[in-house]
This record gives sequence, structure tokens and C-alpha cells, in this order.
Amino acid sequence: MAGIFSSLSSYCILLVFIIVADLSLCTAQNDKQVYIVYMGSLPTGEYSPTSHHLSLLEEIVEGRSADGALVRSYNRSFNAFAARLSHAEVERISGLKEVVSVFPSRRSQLLTTRSWDFMGFPENVKRNPTVESNIIIGVIDSGIWPESESFADKGFGPPPAKWKGTCAGGKNFTCNNKIIGARVEFTSGAEATARDTEGHGSHTASTAAGNTVSGANFYGLAQGNARGAVPSARIAVYMACEEFCDDHKILAAFDDAIADGVDIITISIAKDVPFPYENDTIAIGAFHAMEKGILTVQAAGNSGPDPFTVSSHAPWIISVAASSTDRRIIDKTVLGNGQTFVGSSVNSFALNGTKIPLIYGKAVTSNCTEDDAWSCFNNCMNSSLVKGKIVICDMTDASVTDEAFRARALGSIMLNDTFEDVSNVVPLPASSLNPHDSDLVMSYLKSTKNPQATILKSEITEHNTAPVVASFSSRGPNNIVPEILKPDISAPGVEILAAYSPVASPSVNADDKRSVKYNVVSGTSMSCPHVAGAAAYVKSFHPNWSPSAITSALMTTALPMNTAKHADAEFGYGAGHINPIKAVDPGLVYEATRDDYIRMLCSMNNTLFSKCPQHIEGSPKDLNYPSMAVRVEENRAFTVKFPRTVRNVGLAKSSYKSNITTGSQINVMVEPSILSLKSVDERQSFVVTVAGKGLPANSMVSSSLVWNDGTHSVRSPIVVYTIKPSN
Ligand SMILES: *[C@@H]1O[C@H](CO)[C@@H](O)[C@H](O)[C@H]1NC(C)=O
Ligand SMILES: *[C@@H]1O[C@H](CO)[C@@H](O)[C@H](O)[C@H]1NC(C)=O
Ligand SMILES: *[C@@H]1O[C@H](CO)[C@@H](O)[C@H](O)[C@H]1NC(C)=O
Ligand SMILES: *[C@@H]1O[C@H](CO)[C@@H](O)[C@H](O)[C@H]1NC(C)=O
Ligand SMILES: *[C@@H]1O[C@H](CO)[C@@H](O)[C@H](O)[C@H]1NC(C)=O
Ligand SMILES: *[C@@H]1O[C@H](CO)[C@@H](O)[C@H](O)[C@H]1NC(C)=O
Ligand SMILES: *[C@@H]1O[C@H](CO)[C@@H](O)[C@H](O)[C@H]1NC(C)=O
Ligand SMILES: *[C@@H]1O[C@H](CO)[C@@H](O)[C@H](O)[C@H]1NC(C)=O
Ligand SMILES: *[C@@H]1O[C@H](CO)[C@@H](O)[C@H](O)[C@H]1NC(C)=O
Repeated sequence: MAGIFSSLSSYCILLVFIIVADLSLCTAQNDKQVYIVYMGSLPTGEYSPTSHHLSLLEEIVEGRSADGALVRSYNRSFNAFAARLSHAEVERISGLKEVVSVFPSRRSQLLTTRSWDFMGFPENVKRNPTVESNIIIGVIDSGIWPESESFADKGFGPPPAKWKGTCAGGKNFTCNNKIIGARVEFTSGAEATARDTEGHGSHTASTAAGNTVSGANFYGLAQGNARGAVPSARIAVYMACEEFCDDHKILAAFDDAIADGVDIITISIAKDVPFPYENDTIAIGAFHAMEKGILTVQAAGNSGPDPFTVSSHAPWIISVAASSTDRRIIDKTVLGNGQTFVGSSVNSFALNGTKIPLIYGKAVTSNCTEDDAWSCFNNCMNSSLVKGKIVICDMTDASVTDEAFRARALGSIMLNDTFEDVSNVVPLPASSLNPHDSDLVMSYLKSTKNPQATILKSEITEHNTAPVVASFSSRGPNNIVPEILKPDISAPGVEILAAYSPVASPSVNADDKRSVKYNVVSGTSMSCPHVAGAAAYVKSFHPNWSPSAITSALMTTALPMNTAKHADAEFGYGAGHINPIKAVDPGLVYEATRDDYIRMLCSMNNTLFSKCPQHIEGSPKDLNYPSMAVRVEENRAFTVKFPRTVRNVGLAKSSYKSNITTGSQINVMVEPSILSLKSVDERQSFVVTVAGKGLPANSMVSSSLVWNDGTHSVRSPIVVYTIKPSN
């Protein structure tokens, strides 16, 4: 595993499962790759999907049996299959009338405590325990560590009656009344097990629905009660990832989770670039989940801070950005001259304060160039030269600490860290410094004959500017549908303590043999289950709400984030920072049905899930979404109308006044500007008109619409922009 991680170019990427778009496909059996053949919804009535899949394969495979080509038949929740096919076979199968889309299964890569309090969601929050214990969260991830205290089933009754799943966790895996189901979504034989060896799946599952465990910590750091949002809820495990998550396994997880009857799916897996709907397995799986009333919550991705990096873009998914909490874990470096620098790393090691010789460049190597030695290139360090020393490396990527660790240096200092807003667990005493402090270290090195330093054990500091979106969090605009604002919402995803696998390396360096029950990890992988847990919390008060109603409740009650701290504003955080308690009582909800999503797709000429009528009016901005976004031509006057409808879920008799905050460059109007509601569930429509004289190139303006009845504030961000992908 170390090899995979060290090949990654960005330090933070290793904290999420990322589907790397340009990685090799799942090649096997000479020239044949695994392809997914998507055929839409399952037909009603007499129909045997698997025999149909086999008969289609029969028609097109050459020189072997259909059985041998079939990898997996999806026959529970939608109609699709995965098969090993040659190029010629792909061409033939794409031409069959039943087939909607054919695309290669991409090989994907593995890339708290405090957080709930920070969100204003205390341990003693008002709950609806009976309903909560009937909620099942499906976790599509790397499995789970079933013996973790976070998943003990003390006090849990039998699984809810609606549960249709099973415990098929494979070797040495038993479920309980907390983990009510498990499936290994691939056929790796007798050794297959849903037991988590990566740590990732245990971390995400416990954040969403783990028990409250007191005294959880990472080597004394981040001490507190580890807990999920909904500790009484049940967990169903769909193991789609080992070191990698292949698309055809992810799709299998959706096929099963939907049919098993989960309520919410949390999936901390994202591609590093957005894919069109036709070949985005998560968008396809989540669409069928939505049809069955299941909300899918997905990590926005860890490809930030560049624009257009958000890869979770479908409006039937809630896409989650990652932000900081008021707790940071930092690590101090003290130079021989007493200068002290605050760096980022989660360092559990103490060096006694003894000053240790610092070495760098040529001095660490016998055979590498100065440049390679500077960046601590793989296999450059000579152990006998770095033994007992702290090595200085220019931080080009995550592997620099791995190289110092491999060569058994006593410690390492990484210079020019550009992701200094997140600290990662290191396998040896190590800290990384920002460019400014790095320059000071360089001056010290040049000014002294025997440079020395020590690295202190990490400590906790307060971070009073939080929440701020993490630099690694993927950003909008949405590259596939410019008029759907993504990500949707932000939640804590920096330095989150949660359950881990005791056989996984806490620093993801395979040679780091420490074993921990709880680990500190960062990523949109960590923010995603916060929102999934919050969605379950909302559902525990409103069991019949549709996925879109829950999404709306979470988005319209989110706390606006500080625009001054965010250059990319809504493209970083969407509607804002999640506020689970408020989301239980949103007042009004914006809802969308399957037909609404189909209409949106048809307006883009997309027939993936349904044929379209001859002529479709409108555009994706007309979807009844809780946010409003539009890309306009630069330096051209514009007038854009957003039709919206809300449903009253608050008091029967209520009157909502609109309040628009607006910038100087746009003029926003809402018609009517007052909504008078007489009954619960009553719907009312209005139109938001945004006009302007023209925006400069590469710019954005945001505003918001708030409906207020004196009790509820129902807030929607409005974003107008001219930013274009650079190609
Ligand atoms: C459904 O697909 C699975 C997995 O490929 C297969 O094992 C099973 O036999 C199929 N079921 C039916 C009813 O065709
Ligand atoms: C994805 O889908 C588009 C449109 O259907 C297609 O043109 C493209 O080749 C596909 N890309 C990949 C990487 O599969
Ligand atoms: C099952 O896994 C646990 C945890 O690794 C281990 O302690 C136990 O010995 C295993 N049991 C069997 C029968 O392999
Ligand atoms: C720190 O001190 C302890 C006890 O004096 C000693 O065992 C240990 O080796 C020291 N560690 C370092 C890194 O100097
Ligand atoms: C490592 O450095 C030592 C001491 O300078 C030297 O004797 C040894 O040959 C070097 N090892 C390699 C593999 O270059
Ligand atoms: C330097 O020597 C080490 C150990 O022999 C070897 O693994 C590495 O590939 C060498 N590097 C270069 C650049 O020759
Ligand atoms: C750090 O970055 C600055 C600016 O890019 C550069 O001038 C400096 O040389 C870098 N320092 C190191 C140690 O690479
Ligand atoms: C959809 O197709 C129609 C007819 O071919 C075309 O006029 C329209 O521009 C297309 N719309 C989009 C969004 O591609
Ligand atoms: C509208 O919202 C702003 C900002 O929250 C607030 O200051 C103002 O009082 C509100 N206006 C009305 C009429 O409610």
C-alpha cells in the first residue's frame, strides 16, 4: 500500500478513496477489460435479468462462453451487468437497443469527538430513539472493524422489520444488532471478508452512526467522546474497496444496498475529475436509490483548491465539502537558536527536547543528485548518513516523510507545505512548515555550522477562524451541469478522530506498525458521514420525507460561511456549514421528484434514465433545487429567472417574507415577495429574477434569498458567474 500512496502527487489525496481518472483500467485476461453495461430500470412483470444479460453476451462474445465473460449481474435494484469485453465486443454491445450506456469500470484508488459539539450538536440533543433505531445507514467503503467499541450492540434490539439484507461479511466476520448486515462486493473466494484493513470504512461508519465511546483519543491527542450523529441507528456494510474501489464493485454495492432496504447511503468515494452521467457509477446508483426514497450522501472530492474539481455533481446526491473545526492539531519545531515554528502534522512521538543535528541535500545521500536529495526522492537516503539526524526535505509530495522513515532518520522537517491547513499522522517525528517559516529555517541553516533542532509532540490549539473550507476540498463550478451549484454543503473534515482498524497503519505507511483503535484523519471522506448522520437525524423526526426534502432541510438551514475567508465562496461550501438541529424544523422545503430530474436531464438532451419528449422547454436552473446558480456570458447584460416551489412543513398558518441580500453587480427580485400559507403541506410557487448589466470574465457574484416567518429562516444561495473551465 505504501507504494500506492507515495506515488500520489498531492499530500491530502491519500485521505480519501479517489477514483483516478487516468489510471489504468481493470485490465486482465489479455486484451479484455471490465465494462459496465447499463440498461436502465428493471422492467416490471416477468423478467429474468441475469438470463437476459447472458443472452446479450451470447450474441456478442467471440470464442468463449457468455458465462466466462460475465463478472456481475445487477439484478436487484436496476438493470445492468459487468463483463470482460474486448474492444470489438464493446462496439457490438453498444449497438444493441436494450443497452443505454457502456463504459469501462475504472480502477479507483484508496487514496469525533469535537466535530459534533462544534456544529452545535451536543451529546444530549433531543432525540427520537425508537425511530432512530429503525434507521439503517448503508456504508459503501472498505468494510468495518466489527469488534470496535463504536459498533458494539449493547442495548440494541433485533434489526428493524423492514431489513431485507443479510450478513455475508465473509471470513471471520459476524454481524450484531448494530452492524446488521455486511456484503463483500467482489468474488475473491474463501478469503473474502468485510473486515476493514484500511481503517477508512470504520472511520466513516463510526462518524455517521457509531456509539458514544468515552475517552477515545490518538496517543493522548484529541481526547473526548467519540460519537456518531445517530448512535442508535444501524449500520449495513457494503465493502467495495480494498486498496482500490472498482466501479463495478461500487455499482454492486448500490444494487444491494437499495434492495436490502437501507435508508441513507454514505459514500466517501469520489473521482478526481467529474465524469458525465453516462459513465458515473455513483450518479447512476444514487439515481436508483433516490427512486426508492433513499438519500445518497457523497464526498465532494479532495482535488481542491482548483475550480471545477468537484466530481460529485448530480442534484439527487448531496455533495459534501470539508471544513475545519475550532480544534487544530499542530506540531512545533524548535531550532538550535530557540526559534520555534508551528507546523502541521499529527505527531505522537516525543524527542525529549534534546537538540538533534539537522541535515539536508547532498549530506543525506550517497548516489542522488542534490535536487533529488532535497526533495527526499524515493531510495535516495543512505541510512548510515541519516541515522540519529533530523532530515530536511522540500515537500513535493506525501512520500517525503515515507523516505525519511524508510531510511530510519530520527525525524524530518518538510518545507514549503502548501496544505498547511491540515495535519496528517506521520510515521516518525515530523512536521511540515509553511513557505514563510521554511525560508527562516533555510536562513538558519546557512548561518550556522552545526544546525540543530527538535520536534515536539503534537498539541491541540484553538482555531477561532473556523469553519474554513479545507484547501484540499474539491471546488465548483459544476463542470457537467453549470446551473447546479456544487458542493451542496460543508461539514467538518479536518483532523477528525473516529474509529479505525487496528490492523491498518495510522499514517498509511505500511511499515508503520502502530495499532490504534481511533485515528485522526482528514478529507471530504470524513465530512461526508457527518452529513449522512445529520440526514439520518432529520429522518428520525420525519420518516416519510423524500431525499430531496431532507437535502433541502439541510441546505436551507446551513449556517452562512464567512465570505471574507473564502475566495471561492459558494463554490467552496455550497449553502454553508451544516446545522443538524435546525434542519429538523426547516419551515419550508424545496422538493424534486424523479420526473423533475428526468425533465432536467431531458433539457440537456440526456436520455440516460428515460426517453425524452420531442421538445423540452427550460434548463437545469429550473429544477426545484434549494440553491440557484447560473453561468452568464461575460460583459453582457442578463436577466435570468429561477422558478421555485416550496412545501410548508412548519406551522399551518404562516406568512413568509422574502429577504434578499444582494451585491452591487446584480439585482434580485422575487415574485411574489410574501407567501401566505394556510395549511401544512401546502405548496406555493414563486419566481426569482436575477438581472445585471454584465459581469467581468472569470468572476462570480453571490446573493441569497431568505424566506422568514419570524421563526424559520429558509436560505438559498444565489450564484451568478462567468468562470469557465480553462481546458
Ligand atoms: C442475480 O445476480 C447475481 C450476481 O451476479 C447472481 O448470483 C444471481 O443468480 C442472480 N439472480 C437471479 C435471480 O438471476
Ligand atoms: C463517458 O461518456 C461520454 C458520453 O457518453 C463518452 O463520450 C466518453 O467516452 C466516456 N468517457 C469515459 C472515460 O468512459
Ligand atoms: C478473527 O479476527 C480477529 C481480529 O483480527 C482475530 O483476533 C481472531 O483470531 C480471528 N478469528 C479467526 C477464527 O480467525
Ligand atoms: C528520551 O529519554 C528516554 C529516557 O531518558 C530515553 O529512553 C529515550 O531514548 C530518549 N529518546 C530520545 C529520542 O532521545
Ligand atoms: C552509505 O554511506 C556509508 C557511509 O558513508 C557508505 O559506507 C556506504 O557505502 C553507503 N551506502 C550506499 C548503499 O551507498
Ligand atoms: C541509490 O542507491 C540505492 C541503494 O543502493 C538504490 O536503491 C537507489 O536506486 C540508488 N539511486 C540512484 C538514483 O541511483
Ligand atoms: C519554497 O517556495 C519558494 C517560493 O516558491 C521558493 O522560492 C523556495 O525556494 C522554496 N523553498 C524550498 C526549500 O524549496
Ligand atoms: C438539444 O437538442 C436540440 C435538438 O437537437 C438542440 O436544439 C439543443 O440545442 C440541444 N440542447 C442542448 C442543451 O444540448
Ligand atoms: C434581511 O436580512 C438582513 C441580513 O440578515 C437583515 O439585516 C435585515 O434586517 C433583514 N430584513 C428584513 C426586512 O427582515
